[in-house]
Amino acid sequence: MILKDRSAGGRKPILRSGPVVCCVQDAYQILVPVNVPVLMSVIVGDTEYVNHVGGVRVSDAPVQRFTVPQAALDAAGAYTLVYTALFTRGAYSCRKGRTARKTYSFSPVPKDGEVRAYVVADSHGRSREAVAAASFFGEGLDLLILNGDIAPQSETADEALMIFDVAYAVTGGRVPCILTRGNHELRGAWAAPFSEMLPNADGRLYYTVRLGPLRFVVLDCGEDKPDDNREYSGTAAFHAFRLEETAFLERFARQEAAAFADGARHRLVLSHIPFTRRDHGEFDIEDALYTRWAELLNEAYAPQLYIAGHLHRTALYDDGTENERGLRCPLLIAGRLLGPKETGTGEHEYIGAALTFRDGGVHIAFTDKNRQIVSERDVSYN
Ligand SMILES: [Fe+2]
Repeated sequence: MILKDRSAGGRKPILRSGPVVCCVQDAYQILVPVNVPVLMSVIVGDTEYVNHVGGVRVSDAPVQRFTVPQAALDAAGAYTLVYTALFTRGAYSCRKGRTARKTYSFSPVPKDGEVRAYVVADSHGRSREAVAAASFFGEGLDLLILNGDIAPQSETADEALMIFDVAYAVTGGRVPCILTRGNHELRGAWAAPFSEMLPNADGRLYYTVRLGPLRFVVLDCGEDKPDDNREYSGTAAFHAFRLEETAFLERFARQEAAAFADGARHRLVLSHIPFTRRDHGEFDIEDALYTRWAELLNEAYAPQLYIAGHLHRTALYDDGTENERGLRCPLLIAGRLLGPKETGTGEHEYIGAALTFRDGGVHIAFTDKNRQIVSERDVSYN
């Protein structure tokens, strides 16, 4: 994954949009998409974080990554990007531009009181509508969840970076985000670079997240058909990936789940494809494996809400519907893109989910691009 456009160093803006603060385990990963090769660091409090591989600073990545302890950024309430375009990187000298600095304020998820989160999935390239819907809480937003298929596929760099564009347009780098992969984003020449650029735990795209009173187990199903499906033309290895993920869940259930859930007021599961749903035909895959995932989560973690997408609907299922594999909590599916024919207005519409986490449950408002509430539901934890 290499940024090739060195010649543009003096003309294109260095930052593609702005930073996105993602959450993985107990840390933030500050991800910064750039247009040109750059030397970049992030200053939080008195500490400078440098993106390097074994001491060698990374200059050619399309997304610069900085891992910062949550406690450090929460306490500082701001972070500063320091960056210098690198026109040439030679063995004995480099040609560089001027160094710039940009400071962003940051607000952590509140430890007490309500937490306001917005969930977007399946906007499939209609970023303007998705950003408009996700602006429902305005400055009151505490957490943004982009749960897959934000882009229509990953054939170009612009498509692979779309998720970061949407995340920055909504948050301005001011509040944390959780980003997951949708199955359509796993297709095309940029699918592998996209998978490397996303937040991850030492390369793993499945991990836990601890944010104030919220806990997430973030999972990734990959594609929705068998690896040998003709559409993938031999580019898919998701069965092996899911086996690794099963081993992670078994380790989590055995060693970590009890301590992880301790002190949590909301135990959540997040993935793009709802693995609890037994599908049909060529989509009927991994029954034993996905059933095992539900068993492990039930036994060790007792989740209270499962947030998924992929079905292009906005719905809350608390009666076992779409949950044939028996995860013992309600399933929230969000969101839904409507085409001009469906709206009848000649325009696209997007509906996502505005979640307000309160003691004992969560209020769900499905909202449109005009920030209007389309319907509402409540989840009460038993
Ligand atoms: Fe999907």
